[in-house]
Amino acid sequence: MLSTEPPTRYTLFMSTAPQKTFYVETFGCQMNVHDSEKVIGTLVHQGYSQVQTVEQADLILYNTCSIRDKAEQKVFHRLADYKKLLAQGKKFGVLGCVAQQEGEKIFERAPHVSLVCGSASYRNLPQMLIQIEAGKRATGLDDRETDECFETEFTARTNPHRGYITIIEGCDKFCAYCVVPFTRGKERSRTSESVLAEARQMVDRGYTEIQLLGQNVNSYKDPAGKRSFAELLTAVGEIPGIKRVRFTTSHPRDFGRDIVELCDHVHLPVQSGSTRVLDAMQRLYTREQYLERIASMKAAKRELSITTDVIVGFPGETEADFAETLSLLDEVGYDSIFTFKYSPRPNTPSLALDDAIPEQEKSRRLEVLMSKQKEIQIVRYRKYIGARAEVMVEGRNEARKQWIGRTSQNKTLNFSAPEGTEPKLGSYVPVSITASFPNSLLGEMVI
Ligand code: SAH
Ligand code: SF4
Ligand code: F3S
Repeated sequence: MLSTEPPTRYTLFMSTAPQKTFYVETFGCQMNVHDSEKVIGTLVHQGYSQVQTVEQADLILYNTCSIRDKAEQKVFHRLADYKKLLAQGKKFGVLGCVAQQEGEKIFERAPHVSLVCGSASYRNLPQMLIQIEAGKRATGLDDRETDECFETEFTARTNPHRGYITIIEGCDKFCAYCVVPFTRGKERSRTSESVLAEARQMVDRGYTEIQLLGQNVNSYKDPAGKRSFAELLTAVGEIPGIKRVRFTTSHPRDFGRDIVELCDHVHLPVQSGSTRVLDAMQRLYTREQYLERIASMKAAKRELSITTDVIVGFPGETEADFAETLSLLDEVGYDSIFTFKYSPRPNTPSLALDDAIPEQEKSRRLEVLMSKQKEIQIVRYRKYIGARAEVMVEGRNEARKQWIGRTSQNKTLNFSAPEGTEPKLGSYVPVSITASFPNSLLGEMVI
């Protein structure tokens, strides 16, 4: 008799246990995307479960970005939109760079918010959750001087094949236009041992590609003094099972030659091609010094793909300065660039500069820059036709009957596979390149 009875009590207990739910939306850079993976893991460990819509959630979190004014405004629009949900008993939390920048002012502007926490305080999230569950407000805003990094074993990674590892947090560079040193606090590195332990754990879970993250990975300083950044990069690459190691971002000032033989892609933000503007931006390198770094990369034994960030319309940028940025694009031959219109940010030294460039002129320069880069990319990508590359299979585009792949240089290479062949997601396959576009390549799988 007993053995045939269904385990009703257990099932009942499971189904009636209250499950706290949360929804998170992430803005901004890869550091923020990865922070959210760590925050999600932390919440799940605290007994919450993640849901995919605001309607289903008890707690709504925004992991915010304030790099430009537009990014910041998005957050306040979102908060205003969801105010009406407060009546349903939902709670709201603001995390990330806008949280750190605006602090408790967020409570004044959006009184329905109960949590405001910058990235340097995420370690304390479990205690803050208890506070907000008890109906109180919680803040995490005082940790910008901390030496500690946010490390957790519960990271909830969204991609099963390629994953991020933060190696350095914060920034001490204080470029004249940038909020990051104010929002992410001072520079602090994780020990190389803990980075390697996380990488090994990821390999055990099937990861083959790792991207090391930091605002300036080249400033990495192992607190245990064991490894330089180049040595850490080498050690991660030597872990059996790792196929590719990437890193973002590099600052030209600390960019060492020892790295150029260790990777196929370097993102080296230049910001401007004019030494005069670079000086006003407090980047502390000249156009010539930047081009020396590029020359050392081009002299490497392996072919490196180089990408960059450019800001147009920095205060006082003349037509001649802008022309220097355009000529730098020709000289370097980037595979891709991220372009931004200068946006004045709170606390930054460039706020006080005169000679603001009118919005319309910034937009014009942005257009010119983007169309110049498009021409460069058309020519650069065309050169790959007829070549062969190994790609990691990242997905399938059913409408086009194509597989989505990525090369070791981080280029998108979509491809078709012969009838009856189905490459596994996350596997590496050789592809012969047959056509090119400004931002991607097309090919056929080689079997
Ligand atoms: N740590 C990285 C960049 C982080 S921010 C580095 O030093 O290169 C990413 C990019 O945003 C920057 O490279 C810059 O191009 C852009 N950016 C930062 N502040 C900006 C501002 N106030 N206005 C416009 N673009 C900005
Ligand atoms: Fe900002 Fe400069 Fe630091 Fe990059 S190096 S995050 S641009 S202050
Ligand atoms: Fe934005 Fe903060 Fe990243 S300002 S770009 S989320 S470091």
